[in-house]
Amino acid sequence: MKIVVTCIAWVESLLKKELEKLWFQNIEVLDRILSFVWDESAVARVNMTSRVANKVYVELFWGKIYDFDSLFNCLSDIDWKYLIWNNNPLIIKATSIKSELSSTPAIQKVSTKAILTKLTWSKDKFYVENNELPPIEIFLFLKDDNLRVLLNTSWEALHKRGYRTSSHEAPIKESLAASLVLLSNWNFSNNLYDFFCWSWTIVIEAAMIAKNIAPGLIWRKYAFENFSWYPKKHLEDARNEAKEKIFSWKEYNIFASDISEEYIEDAKINAKNAWVEDMIKFEVKPLNAYVWAKNLSWTVVSNPPYWLRMNQKDLIFVYKDIAKIFDNNENLNWWLITSFMEFDDLVDLRNWKKRKLYNGSELCYFYKRNK
Ligand SMILES: C[S@@+](CC[C@H](N)C(=O)[O-])C[C@H]1O[C@@H](n2cnc3c(N)ncnc32)[C@H](O)[C@@H]1O
Repeated sequence: MKIVVTCIAWVESLLKKELEKLWFQNIEVLDRILSFVWDESAVARVNMTSRVANKVYVELFWGKIYDFDSLFNCLSDIDWKYLIWNNNPLIIKATSIKSELSSTPAIQKVSTKAILTKLTWSKDKFYVENNELPPIEIFLFLKDDNLRVLLNTSWEALHKRGYRTSSHEAPIKESLAASLVLLSNWNFSNNLYDFFCWSWTIVIEAAMIAKNIAPGLIWRKYAFENFSWYPKKHLEDARNEAKEKIFSWKEYNIFASDISEEYIEDAKINAKNAWVEDMIKFEVKPLNAYVWAKNLSWTVVSNPPYWLRMNQKDLIFVYKDIAKIFDNNENLNWWLITSFMEFDDLVDLRNWKKRKLYNGSELCYFYKRNK
């Protein structure tokens, strides 16, 4: 079966590494989409272990489509009775990029008709959804006239690990936090800091990476658990494999600080939910406490404040302090993600690598200083 895994732009290489670590081979990498052919067990293993993936799909069709008749026919050729076992509610999503068929509502309409006709064996019968059953999501992804018909096996996006029980304004997505920690090449023996930790997402993800706790092991539920055709054994095997791979013997130096402890109790609960509460040392500390520090050689992964709750003047002070700390500490391995666009005016951009990316739908920039 062809497995298709999606992710945000620029983390494709991280996702490829994760898949290779699980011993999958011949991985095709496209913009935000990776795919490979494997048996059904891959569905459970990727959903359970990937820290950077968005969703995991099974590909039901791949081919060129130029008109609605061929769209209808290709969908009619899929064995929907086998995939959708008992009148599950259906969710049909579609995206079209640079293709002859460009209207996504029309693509959804024709596809829904083709699927329901196949399910009821007739154009005149009604498909009565059983709302007590879990919904099934089909994603039609059309790019350059190539259509992929994809069955969502994850259900909710995988960044929703389940350990964050209360959510506040401006938390970074768990998969993005994990990506930054992985990109930082933190070597586990060095200190890892987040100076703006708030709900602790970055340090929790770092601790889970250090201990090799699979992000989907503890709380996640998946769409594939409800597929009648999917062998339950694969989920059990993936769980057991993930449990065996947890490191339990190492000490790590993971530090979190923030000017505020408003959410400290929630953050501790999050860390406890993720099985890492003993690994994180927290203190209330403003960033300017580090301004005169010299020769720091830590790894710092941070998501500093932006417009939220702070006025422009105070923000500029924070970002000026960041620039000063960088100047004083050449060996600081600092990775910073922010949507505060004025940061560019406060630093010499020739010394920085800067990359555009999205935290959800929010435009951010990701900075790393050149050595
Ligand atoms: C964008 S939030 C961080 C969100 C965090 N990554 C998460 O996932 O929850 C920015 C944080 O910076 C903190 N902050 C603002 N000014 C600060 C300062 N001068 N020193 C330290 N922390 C500060 C805020 O209290 C807030 O928690």
